[in-house]
Amino acid sequence: TVLILDFGSQVTQLIARRVREAGVYSEVVPFDKGADALKRLKPKAVILSGGPASVTVDTTPRAPREVFEAGIPVLGICYGEQTMVAQLGGVVEGGHHREFGRADIEVVDHCPLFDGVLLPGDSEPVWMSHGDRVVSLPEGFKAVATSRGAPFAAIADEARHFYGVQFHPEVTHTPRGKDILWNFVHRIAGCSGDWTMSAFREAAIARVQEQVGEGRVICGLSGGVDSSVVAVLLHEAIGDQLTCVFVDTGLMRAGEADEVVSLFRDHYNIPLVHVDAGPLFLGKLDGVSDPETKRKIIGATFIDVFEAEAKKIGGADFLAQGTLYPDVIESVSFSGGPSVTIKSHHNVGGLPERMNMKLVEPLRELFKDEVRALGRALGLPDAFVGRHPFPGPGLAIRVPGEITPEKVDILRKADRIYLEEIRAAGLYDEIWQAFAVLLPVRTVGVMGDERTYDYVCALRAVTSTDGMTADYFPFSHDFLGRTATRIINEVKGINRVVYDVTSKPPGTIEWE
Ligand code: XMP
Repeated sequence: TVLILDFGSQVTQLIARRVREAGVYSEVVPFDKGADALKRLKPKAVILSGGPASVTVDTTPRAPREVFEAGIPVLGICYGEQTMVAQLGGVVEGGHHREFGRADIEVVDHCPLFDGVLLPGDSEPVWMSHGDRVVSLPEGFKAVATSRGAPFAAIADEARHFYGVQFHPEVTHTPRGKDILWNFVHRIAGCSGDWTMSAFREAAIARVQEQVGEGRVICGLSGGVDSSVVAVLLHEAIGDQLTCVFVDTGLMRAGEADEVVSLFRDHYNIPLVHVDAGPLFLGKLDGVSDPETKRKIIGATFIDVFEAEAKKIGGADFLAQGTLYPDVIESVSFSGGPSVTIKSHHNVGGLPERMNMKLVEPLRELFKDEVRALGRALGLPDAFVGRHPFPGPGLAIRVPGEITPEKVDILRKADRIYLEEIRAAGLYDEIWQAFAVLLPVRTVGVMGDERTYDYVCALRAVTSTDGMTADYFPFSHDFLGRTATRIINEVKGINRVVYDVTSKPPGTIEWE
C-alpha cells in the first residue's frame, strides 16, 4: 500500500489513480489523519499531495512527524514538497515567480525518480501550479532538476529516500509523470505491483462471503454499470442468497429496461424482481415542474417501491450498494462551511436503517474506471460496461418543466436517434455522456409547405474524467446537421434542434 496524504489539491485523487495504474494499491487520507493511517495501513511509502495553502504561513497544514520517522520513502508533490522542505529545515518563500501551467524542467543530476526516464542534461515539459518556492534545501538533499520559476523543481535525499517535485506528475499534462510515479512506487519503494482487477475480484468475493455468511442480500439494479457490477460480483460470491430488484421508473432510455432484465435474468440467471412502476412515477410527477421537487418525488417514490418489494420477498439482512471510492474519500476543506447543494442526487438513503439492513459495498475502494475493468473481468459485455452514466431520476430531469408521458416518449425517440448517430460515427467512447433534452418551448417551422408548431430538442455531449468538470464535445457541423435532420424527420413533435455548447462549470451536465 502507498499512503497519500491530502493537503486539499484538486487533483489528489489522480495521484491515487496513477499509483494504482502502476499496480499498487493506494489510499487517500486527510493530512491530519496521517499518523493513524500509518499505523493502520503500514504503507511501503507515503506521498504528500499538493494543496492551496502556503507553508510560509504558520497555521497551514503540515505532515505528521511520524511520516518522516517511519523509515519509508516519502514523495512530496508541490505543496507536499514545500512542507517537507520546511519541516526538515529548509526554506520556502512567497513566490515572485509564480508558475501556472506548462513549464520546462532541466535535469541537473542523477536520481532514481528519473531512472530510465530522464538523464542529466534533458529538458522536459511538466505541469506546474505554485506561487511559493523552495529557496534552500534541508541537509542531505540535492537538486536534481530546475525550472525557470523553481530552482528546486525536483529534489532528492537518496540516503533517507525522501524526494520532492514542484510539478504535478499525476496530471496528463506532465507527459512522463506516470513513469516518474512508477519509479517511485517500484524502484524506490519496492512495491510489488500485484494490484490487478483479477486479484481484487478474488479478494472482494472472499470479503463478501465473510461479511454476509448465510445472510440474505438485496440489491437494487438501476441499469447502470456500478449496480450491475455489484450484482454480478455478489452472485459469484453468494449465489442464490442474492435477490436483485429492478425498479423500472418508466423514465429510462429506449430499450434499456428490457436489456437489464434479459442480461440478468436470462444471461446470468440471477433472481430478479422487475417492478413496472412507470405509471406510478409519472402519476406522482403530474403537474410538477420544479427540478428539486421532481428529484425529491422520484427519490421518495423509489424508496417506497423498493421497500414494498423488499418486504414481499421476505426482507433481507443486507442491502448491496455500488458506492465508489470518490464518494467515501474524506475531502479536506479549508473554507470550513458546508458546500451548497446544487442538485440532490437520489439513492436509497435512509432505507438500511428503516428496514434494519446492513450495507454491503464491495466497490468502496474503486474508481469508476476500475469498476469498468472489474466488470470486464466478471464477463459483463463490453458495450454494457462502457455505457455512459445515466442519472437516477432519468428522463424526468431531461424534460424541463412539466412532464407528460407524451413528452417522455418524444424525448426517448430523439435520444435514441442521437445515440445511434454517435455510435455510427465511432464517437461513443470519446464522450463521457451524450443525451437529448426536450425543451418546454414550441417554435414555428415549415415542413412540406405546412406550418408546424412543435418542441425544440437540445442535444448535449460532454467530455469529462469524473463528471465534476466537463467540456462540450466538438462535433463536426456535418454530424450535427445530419443528426438534426434525422430527428426532425423521424420524431413527430420536434421541429427544431439546437446544440448545447456550455462547459461545467458554469453549466451542469444535466439541465435540471
Ligand atoms: P450534473 O448535472 O450535476 O451531473 O453536472 C454530474 C453527473 O451526475 C449525474 N447525475 C446523477 N446521477 N442521480 C445519479 O445517480 C442523480 O440524481 C443525478 N443527477 C445528476 C449526471 O448524469 C452526471 O453524470
